[in-house]
Amino acid sequence: MAGSYFLTTAIDYVNSAPHLGHAYEKILADFFSRHQLSLERDVLFLTGVDEHGQKVQQSAQKQGVEPQLFADEMSGRFQRLHESLGVASSHFVRTTDASHKKIVREWLQTLHDKGEIFFQEHEGFYSVRQEQFVTEKDKVDGQWPEIFGDVIETKEPNYYFRLEPYRERLLKYIDENPNWIVPAFRRNELLGALKEPLGDLCISRPKSRLTWGIPLPFNEDYVTYVWFDALVNYYSFASVKGALRWPPDLQIIGKDILIPAHGVYWPIMLMALDLDLPKHLLVHGFWTNSGAKISKSNAKSLIDPVPYVERFGPDALRYFVLREMVLGQDADFSDERFEARYDSELRKKLGNLVQRTLSMINSYRAGVIPNYDGFHLTEVDAPLRSDAVVEEYKRAVEQFAPHLALQAVIDFTSAANEYIEKTAPFKLARDPAQAKRLDVILALLAESLRRLSVLVQAAMPTTAEKIRIQMQLPNHPVRLEEALFGTSLRGHAVGKQAVIFPEIEKPPAAGA
Ligand code: MSP
Repeated sequence: MAGSYFLTTAIDYVNSAPHLGHAYEKILADFFSRHQLSLERDVLFLTGVDEHGQKVQQSAQKQGVEPQLFADEMSGRFQRLHESLGVASSHFVRTTDASHKKIVREWLQTLHDKGEIFFQEHEGFYSVRQEQFVTEKDKVDGQWPEIFGDVIETKEPNYYFRLEPYRERLLKYIDENPNWIVPAFRRNELLGALKEPLGDLCISRPKSRLTWGIPLPFNEDYVTYVWFDALVNYYSFASVKGALRWPPDLQIIGKDILIPAHGVYWPIMLMALDLDLPKHLLVHGFWTNSGAKISKSNAKSLIDPVPYVERFGPDALRYFVLREMVLGQDADFSDERFEARYDSELRKKLGNLVQRTLSMINSYRAGVIPNYDGFHLTEVDAPLRSDAVVEEYKRAVEQFAPHLALQAVIDFTSAANEYIEKTAPFKLARDPAQAKRLDVILALLAESLRRLSVLVQAAMPTTAEKIRIQMQLPNHPVRLEEALFGTSLRGHAVGKQAVIFPEIEKPPAAGA
């Protein structure tokens, strides 16, 4: 094994159904996880759901069921979505898991014993909708903004976690670790947010108001609230494959939960506990639907990933989101864009190449990949014998740019299709004097397919498998190194070609 790799995603709230934004983040993490596996690393990949809190309690009440039952059902939906998308995590995290609750309580007790958590009466304004205290500073033009809903004045003693004593240390850490947050512009946003002194973080809710949470070990009349429960998951499940792995190599989150949750609370919690910080926080942007953020609070914006998976299989959606979004920025989802990429890149380039190549080998060489000698190689063959695509692919993934990695793969696919046009094997097949040259062409095309099956396996594991099955190669994932050019296929017999990406059927036009 070439070392180990530990990556995590945000855990999704179960108060409403999963949408494309949730699916994207998990696909992204699965892509990096499979990439690390192809480098022979021992990967620990955590993802899952965040089950406690007011909103889940309320949603359960509305349905007249116990929160645990509600959470069980919703968690099942998220888990089934992951399975249908081919997201193969090491463990599906649930914050109602007894082992997690135990660690949360241990952390709270330790921080309480160290004097980092204190009890205080708080008198102030409270937003019922956002379930948080707000201050005059939150007003816009002297009014509470719409997002706060009803704001009431209330007095409530609660537990608080001190943040300010760690601010300088955190600033220094960010300064000394310029790649801690990717992309860099997010790091600058965080540095901006850390210019002002940090207020204390309220970490409790009295049980009289919220019962659906983890009780504080030092006062059972309270439960811990939101981040002190959710963030701890990364640590609670870091031992699921045996010994504790710490810190994570990569934590993937959306831009809305960098400041303050993952950029301030999380590193400060770790510092207060003398634990190392994650090596990278990778912050992705949002999917929008005709410009509107896809969000559970805007029903019209919602895009359900399930129908796409049912109609096209998991890989078309995986490919689209990884290829379309420039990691870090926002991207817009539409059926037109999805179908355009499916048709022009997956069907016409990749699918077509597989079919044409295997069909020619079957018709001209009885399904056996020919042997060839160096005398019949020409300059036209160079792009198919080059390893540049592997280098480009690797570099792009290392720079957290899956869209560029897939661009390199598609460019290579296009080069192979152009090679067929240029060399015209269908013409050479009619001329026995060209048999040796045809051997070269068919062998190089077959080798390109084999290499492509390796290059697409992180983004499109099912497609990789389909190509390998048609080529009668072992269909399990292989090392990325195997995408380098080679000659191992000489004399290998392939199977029958089959369509991988069928044409999109359009419903008949109205009145037709
Ligand atoms: N439960 C918290 C996270 C706790 S992590 C310790 C939470 N849950 S969430 O369900 O609201 O969001 C989960 C993830 O989905 C976040 O990383 C969030 O940014 C991401 N997305 C939610 N909507 C999104 C889009 N429209 N587009 C892309 N990702 C977005 O926050």
